[in-house]
Formats: sequence, C-alpha cells, structure tokens
Amino acid sequence: MKLISTAIALNTFLLCFAQAPTWSSDVAKIIYGNCTSCHRPGGIGPFSLQTYDEVSAMANWVQQAIEQRDMPPWTPDHTYKNYVHERVVSDADITTFQNWVAAGAPSGDLRFAPPVPTYPSGSQLGIANLNLSIGSYMVSGNGDVYRNFEIQSGLSQAEYATAIEVLPGNPSIVHHVLVFTDSTANPINPNSVGGTGSSASQLLYSWVPGAAPYFSPEGTGFRLPANTRIILQIHYAPGSAGQTDNTEINFKTSTSPLRKITVSPVLNQTNLENGPLVIPANTIQSFTESVTIPAKYTALYVFPHMHLLGKKVISYGLKPITGDTIRFVKIDDWDFHWQDNFALANSVVLPVGTTLKATATYDNTSSNPENPNVPPQTVTLGEGTGDEMMLMFFAYMPFLPGDENLIMDKRVIPKGATTFCEGQSVELTTIKGEGYTYQWKKDGVDLPGENNFTLVATSSGSYMVEITLGPNVALSDPVSVTVNPAPTAQIVPPGNTEIPLGGTIDLSAVQGTGYLYQWYLNGYAVPSWTNPDLTTEYNGEYVLEIFNGGCFQISETLTLTGGLANLDELTSTIRIFPNPSKDIFTIECNATDALVIRVEDITGSEIRKFDFNGKSISIDLRDHSEGVYFVEIIGDGHKILERRKIIKMD
Ligand code: HEC
Repeated sequence: MKLISTAIALNTFLLCFAQAPTWSSDVAKIIYGNCTSCHRPGGIGPFSLQTYDEVSAMANWVQQAIEQRDMPPWTPDHTYKNYVHERVVSDADITTFQNWVAAGAPSGDLRFAPPVPTYPSGSQLGIANLNLSIGSYMVSGNGDVYRNFEIQSGLSQAEYATAIEVLPGNPSIVHHVLVFTDSTANPINPNSVGGTGSSASQLLYSWVPGAAPYFSPEGTGFRLPANTRIILQIHYAPGSAGQTDNTEINFKTSTSPLRKITVSPVLNQTNLENGPLVIPANTIQSFTESVTIPAKYTALYVFPHMHLLGKKVISYGLKPITGDTIRFVKIDDWDFHWQDNFALANSVVLPVGTTLKATATYDNTSSNPENPNVPPQTVTLGEGTGDEMMLMFFAYMPFLPGDENLIMDKRVIPKGATTFCEGQSVELTTIKGEGYTYQWKKDGVDLPGENNFTLVATSSGSYMVEITLGPNVALSDPVSVTVNPAPTAQIVPPGNTEIPLGGTIDLSAVQGTGYLYQWYLNGYAVPSWTNPDLTTEYNGEYVLEIFNGGCFQISETLTLTGGLANLDELTSTIRIFPNPSKDIFTIECNATDALVIRVEDITGSEIRKFDFNGKSISIDLRDHSEGVYFVEIIGDGHKILERRKIIKMD
C-alpha cells in the first residue's frame, strides 16, 4: 500500500515535533555534495551512494566513515590549514547525518528529493591546447598496480601551462595520477613507485578522483620545455587486472612567457637533521628535515610524499628573528593511496631566512597494516614501494610585491545537480580563504547581499562570482543553472461536492502535455486512478499529484461528501468491484492464507459461504433484490478480517 503525507499532514507534523532530518530534505544534498563524485556507477568508490536505498542500507557504516573523517578522502588536518576546495564535510552536516541515522534514516517524501548530480566525462578546461594520452593499456598484476607512462609532448618551443586536467580513461580503476615533466632522455622505469626512474623528472601535479582541474594563479604557469616528455604515474586500484585504461592529460598553455612556478622537493633526504633515513625492523622512527631559504619566495601548494610505512607528517616554516610559525600541512593519518597536492587557499610569503621544517613518523612494526614486509625488515631510502621516502614538495615562485593578494582559484563548484525542479536549490561554492570578498552575479547582474563564498541558487540563470583580494579582482567562469517549472496540480472544482445517492461526480485536472497523474483518496494512491479525469462514487478527501519530467506537485485537498464511504475497500489489499453492481461483484485479494467468504443480507441472514484461496472470485447476486448486503472475509480461527458493505442495484 502506498501512502502519502499530504502537505497538510506534513505541516501538522512540523508544528507538533522537532523535525528529524530526512533524506529528501537534508541528507541527499550532503551525500551529493561530498560523496557521489566517486560513489556512483562507474566511479572509483567501491559502491554507489546515489539513492536513498543505497545510503540507508549502510547508514551506520556511512556515518562512521563521515564522523571519523575517513570519507571523503582528505588527509590534511583541516583545523591546521585550509586549501582550495578541500574535501571536508562541515561539522553541521556531520551532526545532521548523525541525527538522521538516530531517527531511523527516514526517507521523507522521496518525490521531493533533489535529483542525482551528473558529472562531466569530457574536458572542463574549455580549450585545451595540449592533449596527450597514454594510449590503450591493459592492466595486469594483482593488488595495487603502479605504472609509469612516457608521452612525448611534441612541443616545438617552451610553453607555460596555466591549467592541468587529468581525464581518467577508466574512472572505476584509476585511483590517482602523478604528473611529471622530464626533458632528458633518461630511461624511465615503468614500474617504479614515487619517482619515475629518471632522476631528472619533475613533479608538476597530482590528481585524485573527483579533483577539478588545477588552474595556476593569474600570470603564472608551469614551464614545459620544448620537446619535453610528460610522464604519468598511474595507480590502479586492486582488482583492475584485465581492464583497459586510456587516461588523457590536458594542458591549457601559453606561448608568451609567464611567471614560472617551480615544483620541487625543497625538503628531502639531503636536509635530514637526524638522517640517514633508516627505519630498523620493529621500530617507530621520526625524522626531521630542515632548510633555510636564501631568498624570498611565494608558495602556492604543498605535496608531502612518503611510502607505506609513513604514519604522520607535519610541515611548517619558522620566520627569521621572530620565529613565528607559518603552517603548511599536518597529516595525522598518512595514506599512501590518497597522496595529493594541497593548493593553499592564500599564497604564503616566505621571507629570506625562513627555515622550512618537516617531521615525519614511520611505523615499521607488524601492527602497521600497510607494512609491506611480514615480518618487518629494516627499510631504507629508495623508490620501490618497499623502500621509504620523505619528500615535501613546494610549488613556488620568487616573491614579487603584491603576491600576498594572489587569487589562488576562481572556480565555482556546484554541490549537487544544476538542473532541478522549482522549489529546490543548488549550493554553489568558490574559494574560501583569508581576506577574500565576493559578489555573486546572475546573468551579469549583481545579486544584492550575496557576498559569501557560497550561494544557494534557486532560479534559472548563468551564475558567476567576482572575487576580490586586495587590489586583485577575478571573475569566475559561468555556471549555468536550469530550474524546471513544477507542473500545476489543480483539481478543477466540481459544481457540486455532494455525491447524489447511487450517483457519481466527475473530477478533472488542469492538464499539461507530458503530465502523469495519480489520484489519492484519503491518502491512498488508487492504482487505476491515473487519468486526468476521474468519475467517483466515494466520499472522502481527494488529492491529485502530477509528475512532469521529474518535477512533481500535489494539489490541495478536495472533500466530497455523500456517496459511498468505502475507504476500507480502497486501502485494503482486498478489493470488491464494481460496487455498486447490478449482478456480479468480483473479489480480488493478495492473501496467501486460505480465507472464507460469507455474504449476508441486511437482516444478517447468510446467503453465500465458500472457501477462497485464489486471487479472484466472482459472486453473482442477480437473483437477489436491490439493496444493501455485507461481505465478510474470515481468516484462520474464524476471525472476521473485514466486513464490507456492498450495494446491489437494478
Ligand atoms: C575522491 C573519491 C571519494 C569520495 C569523494 C568519497 N569516497 Fe568513499 N571511498 C572512495 C574509495 C576509493 C574507497 C575505497 C577505499 C579507499 O580507497 O580508501 C571508499 C570507501 C568508502 C567506504 C568504505 C569504508 C571506508 O571508510 O573505507 C565508505 C563507507 C565510504 N567510502 C563512504 C563515503 C562517503 C559517505 C562519502 C561522502 C561523505 C565518500 N565516501 C566520499 C572514494 C571516495
């Protein structure tokens, strides 16, 4: 039986109780904003989390992943430092999710749930000047597979990349991708992990599923020398053997010179304070690297790198004279499989004489589940997965005045579907950092009062945000939002709402092309009542719902009086029809147990009695006179399950 809560019932509920969160109104948007970029059919997440059924079936597990901040994967401590578009669920959303699970994970009215977002499969760069592919590669090997692919850039002159985008060829197996340039002819090692096998390879960028393209701040770029090679190190998730991948990389480039961003492991094994990097079997060891910089620099992103014994890492700078701390990154639960570059939300200016530091902890005991050696063995520096590394990459440039005010990113990211029905909304987000101010615009016109880093869009249009930091102003690319009008769900009021004895009333709906109709009587969706017109003999409360291309609306309630009070009949799994009838009454039932049917007249005298264990049976009252009769449905132990009034007419 399908029940609805009409608008009235919902309102009453709101007034009477503190409302528990529901999937439709509160939880779906948390999942769509944080999880479905990976947890969708064909995504890297091991299962889909797109629907109410999928999420509610594993609500406790999902709650644990969210509250322990295991998911979405984001290793840095977000209370230590903020980055561009960090994958962090807000505390308020965590509480909402917990309250939802505590309330029994209610669905709410699923017809009002936000639509499942779709994710672009093609390029989001607009025009990519340089598009390179690994070709077609079939993965072999069990467990995690790491593979280096060498691609000739074919650049006839040096160019500057201002945007980098990885397009995974097979999104269900590509776990992450490291992007290197290498201008030498050194051979690479297709199976080396961490590095490429060529010591001249320079890391540019790291991609994880769900990451949007990286855009360098205005006027800056990564230098790609003429004829350089691009090397992609691809990590394939366990279970990928036999599957084919053809990952591509796109660059937006400029041939005119820009400020060059250098990416280098400024902190590395050569500046270990307590080296060498040797981790004896069955020990937990910490190492610190330290380097004092000889010139003033501006840092744009950080990227820590260790292998499987890595547990923790923290990196910061100490300013000269004052010793003030400049925070870079803190990871308390290192995960080799989720290494990533963390683009700073504000550029970080490093004065001459700043001492950069990193402290990393390695666990070479058997209680580290990632330990590649059973039993543990002494591990030293090297590029194999079984070796260790301790690198802190920085993307940086020599300082220029005004660098404090670089706008580090100007994308707008929708946290849900951008096409939805009237009455729903989508949250648009842009960079959040210190000192930024915002002005959102719709169709080129300022939206008054919309000066936050997020905007809730409720109507169709092209949305952009103007971001200001100091004297710098940047305008985002537009994001188009389409709001489909909800259908008009209106019952055309009948001239008379009192049903004449033995008669009927015609109801009809305001119609529209493509509409689907469902009439309800007293909260019950009558299966056969799906036309815009309805002829009825029953009194009660009528509601009409209309779907139109995924949009949904329910009408106000219309009450009909007089007529038959046959709610039982409509809501029961037992149907008797037609009623009234001239001769034959059909009884339909989905019961699995054997029943007895008894028919009596108005005086209580039995006129029929028979066993019933099928689905449908007919009673012929042709030889009986006009009037009221009763049908009793009797179950096991002679219990009367239902007693129905039927009317025989001439
Ligand atoms: C960037 C991609 C990505 C995003 C975003 C993401 N997941 Fe996952 N999730 C994965 C992958 C991949 C795994 C498999 C384990 C692994 O590789 O860490 C996983 C595993 C899980 C698991 C299994 C248990 C565990 O903790 O490993 C749960 C539960 C889960 N995700 C829930 C979520 C929820 C809830 C969200 C959103 C709040 C989310 N995930 C967001 C990629 C993602």
